[in-house]
Amino acid sequence: MAGLTPSVEDSPILTCIADIYDHYRALDSGNVADYIPKLANVYPDYFGICIATADGQIYEVGDSQQPFTIQSISKAFVYGLALADRGREAVMSKVGVEPTGEAFNSIIFDEQNNRPYNPMVNAGAIATTALIQGNGYDERFSRILQMFERFAGRALSVDEAVFQSERETGNRNRAIAYLELNAGMIDEPLEEHLDLYFRQCSILVTARDLAVMAATLANNGVNPITGERAIDAEQVTSILSVMGSCGMYDFSGEWIYRVGLPAKSGVGGGITAVMPGQFGIGTFSPRLDEQGNSVRGIRVCEEFAERFQLHLFRTHVIAGSVVRRTYTGSTISSKRSRRALERAVLERNGSKTIVYELQGDLYFATIEQLVRRIQEDLPQLKFLILDGCRLRQANESALTLLHGLQQWLAHPEERVVFAGFPTAISTEFQQCGWQSLVFEDMDTALEWCENQLLAEAGYNSEERSAPLRLSEIDILSGLSTEEYEVIASLIDEVKYCSGESIIREGDNADRLFFLAAGAATVSLQLPNGQRSKRLNTIMPGVTFGELALFFGGKRTADVIAENDAVCYVLPLECFETLIETAPNLHAKLLGAVGKNLADLLRRTTAEVRSLEA
Ligand code: DON
Repeated sequence: MAGLTPSVEDSPILTCIADIYDHYRALDSGNVADYIPKLANVYPDYFGICIATADGQIYEVGDSQQPFTIQSISKAFVYGLALADRGREAVMSKVGVEPTGEAFNSIIFDEQNNRPYNPMVNAGAIATTALIQGNGYDERFSRILQMFERFAGRALSVDEAVFQSERETGNRNRAIAYLELNAGMIDEPLEEHLDLYFRQCSILVTARDLAVMAATLANNGVNPITGERAIDAEQVTSILSVMGSCGMYDFSGEWIYRVGLPAKSGVGGGITAVMPGQFGIGTFSPRLDEQGNSVRGIRVCEEFAERFQLHLFRTHVIAGSVVRRTYTGSTISSKRSRRALERAVLERNGSKTIVYELQGDLYFATIEQLVRRIQEDLPQLKFLILDGCRLRQANESALTLLHGLQQWLAHPEERVVFAGFPTAISTEFQQCGWQSLVFEDMDTALEWCENQLLAEAGYNSEERSAPLRLSEIDILSGLSTEEYEVIASLIDEVKYCSGESIIREGDNADRLFFLAAGAATVSLQLPNGQRSKRLNTIMPGVTFGELALFFGGKRTADVIAENDAVCYVLPLECFETLIETAPNLHAKLLGAVGKNLADLLRRTTAEVRSLEA
């Protein structure tokens, strides 16, 4: 395969688009628009197709970078700007959202409401243009142009000849504007509004620009290539709605029926169509049908939508399972190594902590699924950990439902724990004024729940300060008084300040440690100066460094006092003297260390088994 690295040029996606392009290249029916004299000059055989994905990948074929005037496609974007400038209610009072079933330049109005029917026909677009704010013509036009540029992700210019040509001949639009002025649908300055309308139609774009502009709509208003927000998500929904119902004029009903994508066409020969959340399509072919829509553009979109089953009302995904898996605190524990007594409490009560590993997106259907799962576990539930580290996003309604979930459970502050949520989600949740227990990762969340369960059972490990006695150390329990005296004579009691090294990687492994107070963290230094990785944290009563008994050699990890700590340290050479002086004690200790390691292996196997389930 050397030298045959796959590239975008021969990707199966591009091959498919090229196939559609080849198929429709021969189609030469329709005529270029000539009612605006300068538009009649366009080369009729131009043909370009571009698909831009909602995450910024571009696939383009043919004359996809040939500039042409955007014409009516501008209407969708200017409508968005009017909504941003004035708000939905103010815009609705001036322009409706009902399809006309009539041609783009028809002179009909919704007389009952004294407004044009919708913003996608000329009458409506003149009214939305009249709503664009700014100080005079220049500022108002530059606001329109800048918004188009945010959508396209590049600087755009105007075809001055087409602008002048339409300005000089656009008497039908002028007539529409005068009727609107007369009826109070728009206010003065009428000629300024008209110039803004003609000029926005003359902005030069390419099929590629149209695809990126559509992909920006598909991506909820953020340009996927520049990362810049072109418009608020709220306006995107309104724009796509009117594109869906009115974007293709008197072909709109059939279009949504056949293709099923919100779209907008222009007499310059462009069509832009949007698959929300997935991608945008831009096509350019100047020959138009009777309705003023590009003949090839329509066929390309139809074919593309059919081949890839893109119709918006064809549901592909019924909310995938949002709960990846669940487990309880009795099978999986935090990285705290605790003494046997505490472990027994957690093994008994750990099933009251249930972890729900979440994945994908949170929205109505997935939260509903989650609530149903939780409902099944309610009888045994005390601490509910939502592990969010595999979540991608949550919409606003999902956050409200999450809050509802907290309230639904009896003691919200105590019971729902958020672990590892993407910052955007947890911050937004808190910005809504809702309290929650948020932990950076699963381990700290699990540890918090364990501490609550231990505290309830009377083990408040965080507060304990006096060092444990030798008999309270797990592997030293159950010895005789004489045996404790022997051990006491062999060990050193060593105090470590918070942050001090107890073991360094590379030290000789020549002693055994019993932690009597504080906590000690075992961590590995990662290569290339990356920060260290915590393996576990040892709690009082636990033995560490015991591999030295069997292997000697060098230490393979660092152990650092997490707070002020006390260790009983038994040098290996002293331990070995027991073979001669107290062989029974030596055997007991070896047996206890072995049992301890075997128990660790048992718990680890159980954890692995539950993770595999
Ligand atoms: O109002 C006009 O006549 C043009 N500037 C725009 C019309 C248009 O693109 C209609 N679309 N198919």
